[in-house]
Amino acid sequence: MEKKRIAVLTSGGDAPGMNACIRSVVRNGIAAGFEMVGVIRGYNGLIDNEMVSLDNRSVGNIINKGGTMLRTARCLEFKTEEGMNKALENIKKNNICGIVVIGGDGSFRGCRSLTERGVPAIGIPATIDNDLAFTDFTLGFDTAVNTVIEAVAKIRDTMASHERVSIIEVMGNRCGDIALYAGLCGGAEYIVLPERQWSVEALCEKLVHGRELGKASSIVITAEGGAKGTALAQEIKARTTMDPRVTVLGYIQRGGSPTASDILLASRFGMHAIKLVAKGIGGRCVGVKNGQLFDMDIIEACDMKKEINQELFEIAEILSR
Ligand code: F6P
Repeated sequence: MEKKRIAVLTSGGDAPGMNACIRSVVRNGIAAGFEMVGVIRGYNGLIDNEMVSLDNRSVGNIINKGGTMLRTARCLEFKTEEGMNKALENIKKNNICGIVVIGGDGSFRGCRSLTERGVPAIGIPATIDNDLAFTDFTLGFDTAVNTVIEAVAKIRDTMASHERVSIIEVMGNRCGDIALYAGLCGGAEYIVLPERQWSVEALCEKLVHGRELGKASSIVITAEGGAKGTALAQEIKARTTMDPRVTVLGYIQRGGSPTASDILLASRFGMHAIKLVAKGIGGRCVGVKNGQLFDMDIIEACDMKKEINQELFEIAEILSR
């Protein structure tokens, strides 16, 4: 009898730890008695029938690699009836009985549609933004924060030497978690988040006050959705005697080797997802709360509203005085 096949794909913006997660999904799937298939370029690969067989060796030497060996994309065609039908045809042709989708919330809605059409699909949260409310952490977030604090430390050296104010713009359109965690761990004087009211006046006041208290240099971390670094620098320059320098960290935050914490999460998420798909369960996503893995309805998860961690913001505020 032909073995049942499970497919895995990565979708949306890439995140460090996606490869470690593919490895976990593949090896757990094989251990559970399935044949494994990798879908290329996210949902596009289902529509275009671009798939590769994966065995234990195909996912060797990727545990520590950033990016995704399966490539990734955002696929609008999959949201159309025609795109979905092409995908379903290919899923049937390839004898696929379940799918694991590694990606952000945009990718998760596709899991529900597939499940409703008889193909159980499970979502694994992977995005550097940590913008999914249902889980404490998404895959790639820890690595991105570590990349940012390494950069902040280097920028701090030169800012201190020149007694300057530094504005560092990090990723995060709707969610300021990278700015919040990196701001706290990088010792920033001021953190600008999209979710929190802030004012240029208060920011300038804090910077000027810092000078009066003997701070020769200061660091401001802003999430791209909170304020753009260059605009912020102009505002500060217009209101004070300071002439801030701006660094936009950009895509450096999406690359690089995953941290141990992200590899661990990737490995655990992969195992949990396979346990579900192996039982024919779909329409759910895997998350972590207080260190414990769990799964829940994928649409309920997408509809949850993310709040910022107020406690972390308060700690950062006190420690930056
Ligand atoms: O992966 C998330 C994210 O990095 C956001 O923070 C950022 O705004 C966006 O993706 C940019 O991605 P792209 O340029 O690939 O659309």
